Amino acid sequence: MQKLIIVGGKKLNGSINISGSKNATLPILAASILSKNKVIIKNIPLVKDVETMVDLLSLLGSKVKLDKKRKKIEILNSNKLNTFAPYKLVKTMRAGVLVLGPLLARYNKAKVSLPGGCAIGSRPVDLHLGALKKLGVNFKIRDGYINAIAKNGLIGNKITFPKISVGATENTMLAACFAKGKTILNNCACEPEIKDLSRFLIKMGCKIKWLKKRKIEINNVTNLKPITYRVMFDRIEAGTYMIASAVTDGRIKIKNINPKIIKNEILVMKKMGIIITIKSKEIIVRNSRYIKKINLKTSSYPGFPTDLQAQIMVLMCGANGVSKIIENIFENRFMHIPELNRMGAKIDIKGNQAIIQGNKKLNGAELMATDLRASVSLVLAALSSKSKTTINRVYHLDRGYENIEKKLSNCGAQIKRTE
Ligand code: EPZ
Repeated sequence: MQKLIIVGGKKLNGSINISGSKNATLPILAASILSKNKVIIKNIPLVKDVETMVDLLSLLGSKVKLDKKRKKIEILNSNKLNTFAPYKLVKTMRAGVLVLGPLLARYNKAKVSLPGGCAIGSRPVDLHLGALKKLGVNFKIRDGYINAIAKNGLIGNKITFPKISVGATENTMLAACFAKGKTILNNCACEPEIKDLSRFLIKMGCKIKWLKKRKIEINNVTNLKPITYRVMFDRIEAGTYMIASAVTDGRIKIKNINPKIIKNEILVMKKMGIIITIKSKEIIVRNSRYIKKINLKTSSYPGFPTDLQAQIMVLMCGANGVSKIIENIFENRFMHIPELNRMGAKIDIKGNQAIIQGNKKLNGAELMATDLRASVSLVLAALSSKSKTTINRVYHLDRGYENIEKKLSNCGAQIKRTE
């Protein structure tokens, strides 16, 4: 298994081009199942999860061409697809369950593996199934698979999610595109990636309208149009490199972004004393020498994203005073803490709350990556330390960060990958 060797202590200085959003690309790829016309998606991030979704679509019978050089995917689903999504692909990438909605929309049936849990939590899909049931879908869970069928086709309905869920909102939105009549979805997640998905669907000819912040109206359509669509930037990658600049006392220009989408993250980091200059499509992030402690809690958009919790914790280690962070989204998203403590951090866990002692200088160590965002927080900690760190199992990183070594070494980091 590959590992990363990092020698920290360098002030990162330079520019980083932010890639397309993994969490917008995955549902948009699943949405392509709805169309019998050509679908071209641009600004694709070259990350493992996107390749896994491409493999899944190909397995369903889609004709998919991934052009890595141009970061573009061309998909043609003119022929009948099969409706079986196997465990081997869905277990490594839980977003595979997002093919359930579009397969039901197009074929009224699907057999999709239950995604199963992962390092950060049990990752249930009850909210997905509860909403799809209200569209007329019946399920049988057997041998780890969701056997779904809508005998009379999908019928529009009024649905209120009992709890905000990104995936359940996406799956239900996709299933409802062809459902007879009108569907109203209440208490939806409204992450920018879901807005990007709805823009993609509307451009393809679907009738989707955001009536309120968390309320969507969907009317059924029959014909869709060929489409070329450019995916939005990855706001979590952008936030990660903002923190990389701050923890190394550097100066990094973060390019190809829309600062409005990450205004809350910018506000949090400014409150901690980070100096951020904002331009229309880029920001410049510098440390201020005096990092202030802060108390944060993760919540659905527009709150502070759970996907930046592990990363901001590294910045809190160097802050003046004790910071706190409450993780409200996932039940086991503190896997990075024992590894950070082995580097000299002093972080205590009380339930879903982490208490981070400040003024800690981290030292390099031999570390183990556990999940995507925990892994990148270890990279940030290694960059901020003055010595050598080895991070094992970097395949976790490759799921969501394109060319991370190249982007960081272009800013002066001493980082290399070995077998
Ligand atoms: C999406 O996961 C993202 N993944 C996650 O990013 C992100 O952390 C999460 O949303 C929250 O923003 C993709 O978009 C591919 P949820 P998802 O459904 O859809 C519970 C990353 O690092 N829940 O909003 O799985 C669930 O257990 C990944 O890029 C149910 O109880 O998140 C969690 O506690 C990690 N029942 C909470 O809701 C369900 O049916 C939020 O989950 C579904 C979810």
